[in-house]
Amino acid sequence: MKPKVYITRHLPDIAQERLMTFCDPVLWDVDTPPGYEEILRQVKDKEGLLCLLTDRIDAHLIESAPHLRVISQCAVGFDNIDIPAATSRGIAVGNTPGVLTETTADFAFALLMTAARRVVEGMDYVRAGKWQTWGLSLLLGSDLYAGTLGIVGMGRIGQAVARRARGFNMKILYYDNQRKPDLEKVLGIGYAELDDLLRQADFVSLHINLTPQNRGLIGPRELALMKPTAILINTARGPVVDTEALYLALKENRLAHAALDVTDPEPLPSSHPLLALSNVTITPHIASATVTTRTRMALMAVENLLAGLSGEKLPYPVNHI
Ligand code: GLV
Repeated sequence: MKPKVYITRHLPDIAQERLMTFCDPVLWDVDTPPGYEEILRQVKDKEGLLCLLTDRIDAHLIESAPHLRVISQCAVGFDNIDIPAATSRGIAVGNTPGVLTETTADFAFALLMTAARRVVEGMDYVRAGKWQTWGLSLLLGSDLYAGTLGIVGMGRIGQAVARRARGFNMKILYYDNQRKPDLEKVLGIGYAELDDLLRQADFVSLHINLTPQNRGLIGPRELALMKPTAILINTARGPVVDTEALYLALKENRLAHAALDVTDPEPLPSSHPLLALSNVTITPHIASATVTTRTRMALMAVENLLAGLSGEKLPYPVNHI
């Protein structure tokens, strides 16, 4: 008998087919998430769970799944899963690291360039029929090539962003809770404490995980340290930034622009005050969204799921079971 698994969203066909060969899946085949109660109901008799970052997998849900052996997250971040609760129940948890690094760094850079050169405002201007002539002072932006980029979090994605910034001749500062002298030489980056980085950077890009310590890391005090001409890029997790403080800083022009692929709350309601500001660019959490990368992520998630179901070590483990 094939093991029973619950899949919280439709996967790319190739991953879905592989999964069907080895498992007996129940699939939530809708584009919006199943919701907590539905997952809770479904996991009661399942051995495997393949989930997304939108699904809250907390201790109560884990305790309500007596047969669960593996939780496979189709994303690199896993702040939606209570890892200690899974580990104490002997449930293996896996994610999809590495495969989305370059794709996400490309997108962080796309947001950086879009914000610095006011691409979205330009499009809005043209659409609104305001384009009458070439203007010497029309939609002036900031130069990337002469600027200082502050990267917060020098993990895989932070490093990939630094490599791109080198190609633009930017000065690169980084902050990480672990200093990385080897990388400083290889990437030509300089270490700075967070406050110094925020004071000096023209552009700040966030590449840290959401942990209890990092929640609200960029709050009113940190935003006040930034230059009023600075641009903030967030492709990490929304709650790393205090949304209310960010809104006030942007509204009062204490910060030039924020380009966010992740928000708090997420999704951001269309009535949210942030959306009434012209100095923000918001995209719907799509930094890893290319056909190739999302297919690879789904295949990795299936590999993790199948390994966990056969009692093997997960190829991409989050905990060690
Ligand atoms: C996307 O945000 C991911 O964590 O993979």
